[in-house]
Amino acid sequence: MTIAKGLEGIVAAESSISSIIDDQLTYAGYSIEDLADQASFEEVIFLLWNLHLPNKTELMYLKNELAANAEIPQEMIGHFKSYPINEVHPMAALRTAVSMLSLYDVEADDTEVNYQKAIRVLAKVPTLIAAFARVRKGLEPVSPNRDFGFAENFLYMMTGEKPSPLAVRTLDLALVLHADHELNASTFTARVCVATLTDIYSGVTAAIGALKGPLHGGANEAVMNMLKEIGSIDQVESYVADKIEKKQKLMGFGHRVYKNGDPRAKYLKAVSRDLAGQTGDTKWFEMSDKIEEVFVAEKGIKPNVDFYSATVYHSLGIDHDLFTPIFVISRTSGWLAHILEQYADNRLFRPRAEYVGPGLQKYIPIEER
Ligand code: COA
Repeated sequence: MTIAKGLEGIVAAESSISSIIDDQLTYAGYSIEDLADQASFEEVIFLLWNLHLPNKTELMYLKNELAANAEIPQEMIGHFKSYPINEVHPMAALRTAVSMLSLYDVEADDTEVNYQKAIRVLAKVPTLIAAFARVRKGLEPVSPNRDFGFAENFLYMMTGEKPSPLAVRTLDLALVLHADHELNASTFTARVCVATLTDIYSGVTAAIGALKGPLHGGANEAVMNMLKEIGSIDQVESYVADKIEKKQKLMGFGHRVYKNGDPRAKYLKAVSRDLAGQTGDTKWFEMSDKIEEVFVAEKGIKPNVDFYSATVYHSLGIDHDLFTPIFVISRTSGWLAHILEQYADNRLFRPRAEYVGPGLQKYIPIEER
C-alpha cells in the first residue's frame, strides 16, 4: 500500500460543482472573478445546487423560499440563553444549534425532500448566528425581515438596523467568494458523513466541526488574533522572523492546492484596502500588507482566503469570533450542493490504514497482568 498522508493528490470523488485548475477557481464553469463582480450570493446558491444560473423566476422563487424559512424555533433562543454567557465559542454554539435544528424538522430523515431541507438549513444558519451573537450580549434576537436579501438580512439581524449598501455589498461578495471550494476538508467531511446515507443535518453539523479548526475556516479569526498580537506595523518584521525561526505557521498563509496564490485572497485584498480607505481605519490593512510582503519575500508562501477576509469582516464591525461563523453561512451552500451530489451517486467512503501498531499479541488474563 502507498500512503498519501492527508490524502494529498488523491481524487476521491467526481464533482460538477466547483473546480480548481491551474490556480483558477470556477463554480459550475463560471470563474470566481466573474461571479464576484456580477452575481449575488443567492444566484451562486442556485448555481451550486442546479449547475446553471437562475432565470428571474427561479431566483425569485429561491429568494422567497430562503426568506420564508429563515425563522428559527423559539426553543433555540432559550437554548442559547442557557449557555454560560461569553464562554461558548460561536462555532461550538452553531455546530450544536444546527444539530438541534433537526429535532424540530419532522422530515429530518425524509430523503424525498432533501432539496427543501437544504433551503431550510441554509436559510436558518444566519438567523442562528445572529441570535446567538445578540443573546450572549444580553440582547433580544431580531427576527428576520422577509423584505431583505440574504446578506442584508444577516447584518440586519445582528444590529436591528438596516445596514448600509456598502456593508451589504461587501458581505455579499465575501459570501460569493467563500461558497464552494471543491473537496476542501469540511466539504469532504460532509460527503463522507452523508455517504453513510445519514441525514442532511448530520452532514452539515459534521462539516461545521471540520471548518472550526484553525487549519481550515478557523484561520480567519486566528489571523485577526495574530494582527492584535503583533500590535503595530513596526513589529511585523520581527514577528514574522520569529515565526520563521521557530518553524511556526503564519495563519492565513499557504494552501494545499494553490501554489501561485489563492485568487480569492487577491480579490479580498482589494476589498480590504478599499474598506480601510473608506473607514479611515487603515492600520490593520497596512499591517496585513506588510506581513504578506515580508513573508512572501522570506518563504514564498502566499496568503489564502482567510488572510484578508479577517480585515474585511473587522471593517464591517463584526466581532472577531464571528468571522468563522460567517464562513459557515457561505460554505453551507457548497456543503449542501456536495451533499445532494453525493446522495445522487453514492458510494460509502472507506479508505484503508497501514497498520503500524504492535504485532500479534497473546491475550493475558487480567489476574496475570
Ligand atoms: N506558515 C508557515 N509555513 C507554512 C505555512 C504557513 N501558513 N503553510 C505551509 N507552510 C510550510 C510548512 O511548514 C511546510 O514546510 P516544510 O515542507 O519545510 O515542512 C510546507 O509549507 C507544506 O506545508 P503543509 O502544512 O504540509 O501543507 P498542507 O498542504 O498540509 O497544509 C495548510 C495546508 C493550509 C493547512 C497550511 O498551509 C497551513 O497550516 N496554513 C495556515 C492555516 C491556514 O491559513 N489555513 C486556512 C487554509 S484556507
